[in-house]
This record gives sequence, structure tokens and C-alpha cells, in this order.
Amino acid sequence: MHTEIFGENKEIVFLQMLYERILIMKDLLKDDGVFVLRIDHHWGHYVKIILDDIFGKENFRNEIFINRTKKNPQKNVKQRMLTTSIETLFIYSLTDQFYYEDTSFKLKEMREGYWRAADDSAGDRYPPERKLEGKTFFPPKGNHFQFSQENLEKKYNEGKVRINQKTNRIQYYVEPSSTGLLDTNWTDIPGYAFSTGYPTENHEKLLERVINACSKEGDLVCDFFSGSGTTATVCEKLNRKWIASDIGKFSVHTTRKRLIETQRFLKKTKKNWRAFEVLNIGKYQIEHYINDSYRGDDRSSNSDQKIKEIKFVGLILEAFEASKVDGFRTIHGKKNDTFVSIGPINQQVSRLHVEEVISECLKNKITNVDILGFEYEMNLFPTIQEEAKSKGLRLRYKQIPIDIFNYKAVKNGDVIFHEVAAIEFKPHIKNKFVQIQLTDFAVFYNEDNYKIDENLRNGSKKNNN
Ligand SMILES: C[S@@+](CC[C@H](N)C(=O)[O-])C[C@H]1O[C@@H](n2cnc3c(N)ncnc32)[C@H](O)[C@@H]1O
Repeated sequence: MHTEIFGENKEIVFLQMLYERILIMKDLLKDDGVFVLRIDHHWGHYVKIILDDIFGKENFRNEIFINRTKKNPQKNVKQRMLTTSIETLFIYSLTDQFYYEDTSFKLKEMREGYWRAADDSAGDRYPPERKLEGKTFFPPKGNHFQFSQENLEKKYNEGKVRINQKTNRIQYYVEPSSTGLLDTNWTDIPGYAFSTGYPTENHEKLLERVINACSKEGDLVCDFFSGSGTTATVCEKLNRKWIASDIGKFSVHTTRKRLIETQRFLKKTKKNWRAFEVLNIGKYQIEHYINDSYRGDDRSSNSDQKIKEIKFVGLILEAFEASKVDGFRTIHGKKNDTFVSIGPINQQVSRLHVEEVISECLKNKITNVDILGFEYEMNLFPTIQEEAKSKGLRLRYKQIPIDIFNYKAVKNGDVIFHEVAAIEFKPHIKNKFVQIQLTDFAVFYNEDNYKIDENLRNGSKKNNN
């Protein structure tokens, strides 16, 4: 992208960030799915070009105008420009076979019935003329009649078609209605809401309209920039499944609180409500730490990268209150009598890594090792630990918490590395019912609660401390 238009760096980084993420969203979209993006006038025109590039211009469906919160200009300050009153929704699909529900909206007042011209549909048709009351009528040039001769006569007999004596044109009767058909002007509903205190909170009415138009009950809706969680909340109310993600902690907290309130509301009104789970991937913090910017790109040199990785290991050892050890390939530190191995930063701890740690420990007569990682491959529990145990090595997996990026928490020793929890379960399927039997589980043990069972009073469920 061009620096003359976008300035030195910031704008391109933002557009690049969007571009990369929208590409992934497109990959996740179902064949008949619809992609919706809300954007304001600062970015809209550039983003439209990106979207055309990603989805193909032929898959552009609509540009919808929605309400923006208007600034209240001071009376005595003369405005040099018009106040911006709208933002945009861009709608794209993957193909022309996309799901779309023709949506109507409730009018403020019942609309009266009225007569309108029947001969002004755009384009020529053959034969152009229609006959009524023994006379022949031709549509204006470039137009055609909306009804076939047969339908026109049928409606005439029902009293729903007439000849306007003043204009000498055929008209049909439009029935009174309490709803109107939706077009791309959605300024009849609010664009923003202020219920959660989250800046840029979308209004539920807006999301209701989008979700009703582009999905049906049971469908999965994803919002990867979810903010205050309006999409997830509306999905719950409209019986859609959802996945919401956001880079910000405040967003996750706001969304969680809001969804709990929504569950309570649904329960109170005797509607179905479902459980949800909050997962912290921590990817962004890790990526942000390793790279200079949003991008996992080539701007930092290999040696920069190496220095960062070394610092990262130092940070984790500090947070884990372990000291650094040298001379090993997979072992990085030691805490009391336990050696510490830090798994790869950008990948899951793999079986291969664990096997390398085991072999290095056995070679060096190490009997206790903790492997720290952000994520773990599925097949590491419990057999590989038992195998290690049979060879005289106690092996534990410990989760690196995302708090390690919180400098204060590290300094205060508040960062807790939980032992990686695991559950085993067995499904029992009978007719349409599924029962899940919990067959085994490992709970979170850490250095602080390791002796928790000794502190429990016999017969009590509470910790004595
Ligand atoms: C305009 S707000 C969304 C508001 C939301 N629709 C609502 O109803 O509250 C945009 C959100 O995108 C999040 N965000 C920004 N960059 C992101 C990224 N790279 N990945 C995920 N979320 C990001 C911000 O934290 C912010 O919450």
C-alpha cells in the first residue's frame, strides 16, 4: 500500500492487520455464509478495496448506512464541514448462493393503502401493451407493465386494478401495511448503545437486524472484534451459536459479565440458555512480545529475535522463581530440586519436545522436571508421564499464565503456574440422549496449594487457612 496516501506506518499497519485477519475469517466462512463489517468514514473507502480484493468484487452485496453518534457542535463555533452522521456496513458473501432472509421492519405508524402506476417497471418486455376496458395501453418508453395480461385482469376483477382517468394510465392498489421492506438505509434504528460502558458498543437492534437477515436459528455466528459482546448477546437471544474474540481484556470482562446477565434474563423469562466458556489463547501478547508490531513479520532481524527469546526465557524463569542453568539443550532452569524446561514459545509443547526433555534428563540423572508451556498437544497425558515415572523421572506439565506479561505481577511474585489440568470422560449415547461420565481428572495444583489436602479438616470441604 502507498505511503503517500497512508502516511509513514500506522495506517498501513492497521489495514494490513485487518487484511490478514479478514483473510482468515473468509477461510472460516461457510459456503453460504455472509461476512459483515462495520466501519466508519475514516477507513471505509480503503477497507472496501481490501474486501473487494479478498472476496471478489462480484461478491459485494450491500453497503448499508447506519447511524453514528453525532457530536454536539457548540452553537457559537462555526462549522467548516458537515457533521458525519453515518457509518457503513459492508456485506460480502463467498458465492451468489448465500443465505439471506428478506427482512422487513416495523413502521412507526400503519401505512395507508394507495394506488400506484402499474406500468413503470424498468426495461422493455414483449408484448409491451395491455388491454383493459376495451382500450389498449402502452408503458412509457423503456418501461414495462408489472403484471401479465392475465394477472392484470384478475386484479381488475378483484377491484385492485383501475384506470386513472386523469392520467389515462393503469394503476394497482398497494395494501395497507404495518411493515416496510428494508433497503440499505438503516438509520431508522440506533447504531450505538451505552449500556455496558464499553466505548463503541453496537446497539442490539442493529445486530438483531444483521443476524436475522444473514442467519437462521442454530447457525454459528462469529465476531472476532467483539468489543462489549453485542453479537454474542444477541445470538444468545436469537438462538444462534456464537464464537466471540477480542484482543482486549476489558472486552473479555465486559462480554463475560454481559453474557451472564443475558443467561439470567433468559432463565427468568423461561427461555433456553446455554453455558459458555472463556478461553485465553494469549497469542497476541506472545506475538506482541516476540515481534515489534501486530505482524509476525520479518521486520526484526534473526539476532533481534534471538535476544527476545532469551529475554523471554529469563522472564518466565523469574516469574516461576527458578534460576537459570546452562549447558543443556532442553533444560533452562532449576527451582529447588526440580529442573525446568520451557517449551517452544509460538507452538504447542509437542510429544517430540517432551521426549527430548526425558532423554536429556535420563542422560544427566535428573529425577524431577517441570515442562512449562502455553499450550500442550492432546496426547501428552497421562501415559508419557507414567513412562517417565517408570524410568525414575517425575515429569509435570505447568501452564505458563498470560500474567507473565504483567510486569507488576511478575515483580510481586503473583504469577501462578498451574499444573496442566486434564479430564477423561466417556460418552454414553442412548436414543437421542447423551450422558457424559467423568472417568478421571487432574485438578490445578501449584506450589501454593500443593499441601491443600493436609490443610483440609476431616469431613470439611473448606480450607482451614
Ligand atoms: C469497534 S470495537 C467492537 C465493538 C463491538 N461491536 C461492540 O458491540 O461492542 C473493536 C474491537 O476490536 C478489538 N480489536 C482491535 N484489534 C484487534 C485484533 N487485532 N484482534 C482482535 N480484536 C481486536 C478492540 O479491542 C475492540 O474491542
